[in-house]
Amino acid sequence: MRRKLAAGNWKMNGTAANLAELEALKSLMPVDAPDVLICPPAPLLFRAHEVAGDTGIQIGAQDCHNHESGAFTGDISATMIADTGATHVIVGHSERREAYEEHDSDIRKKAKAAWAAGLTAVICIGESGDDHEANNTLEIIAGQLAGSLPDATSATNTVIAYEPIWAIGTGKVPTLEQIVQVHDFIRAKIITRFGAEIGDMIPLLYGGSVKPDNAATIFEAENVDGALVGGASLKAADFAPIIEALAAS
Ligand code: PGA
Repeated sequence: MRRKLAAGNWKMNGTAANLAELEALKSLMPVDAPDVLICPPAPLLFRAHEVAGDTGIQIGAQDCHNHESGAFTGDISATMIADTGATHVIVGHSERREAYEEHDSDIRKKAKAAWAAGLTAVICIGESGDDHEANNTLEIIAGQLAGSLPDATSATNTVIAYEPIWAIGTGKVPTLEQIVQVHDFIRAKIITRFGAEIGDMIPLLYGGSVKPDNAATIFEAENVDGALVGGASLKAADFAPIIEALAAS
């Protein structure tokens, strides 16, 4: 059985006051909760870890540098992230690929840096709206998988998040059929590359406008093991029903 994961990406939203949402989430966790991960802005990592306490809610960062330390003003290393008590780091989110021109090779290095610090890398892939319309989705995904995933990818050091860029923050969601097609494709690709034992066990998340009212449908897909949630992870009242839908799936 693959582990299920409900991950929240707060992006550049939230100050210490927003940790009240994390506090609220603790009391809304279902009994048989899947793995739950909250990725707040970096300045909140340490405090978020303290608020999460022993609830099992894990804390992650949204990006890391690929070096452990050095003259990289403003950057944060995976070692520093791990030092806050965090367990995960998102790498290769499309917003970073676009705004900071991060390429597959950068993401591969960041994933390795994450592992070296003992973190699980949540590696994001996804096609643009233009590529979606031109029916290039599978080709783009294949390229990103080949380029972003290091050879030592395993089911314990990596989570893959498929996030069609056109679905992020837009309220547009692919049909269940489209999600099934892409997730089955990713599963087949990683089994081919890493072998069935590893490829079958790597959790695959869907991300892009996941909300309380569409989560259950998305989780019907056999190769969807959870979600990477942006907007709807900011409020405990929105994120909790998504966690419940995953627990029930
Ligand atoms: P969204 O963001 O849920 O707000 O669409 C998802 C993401 O970017 O991870």
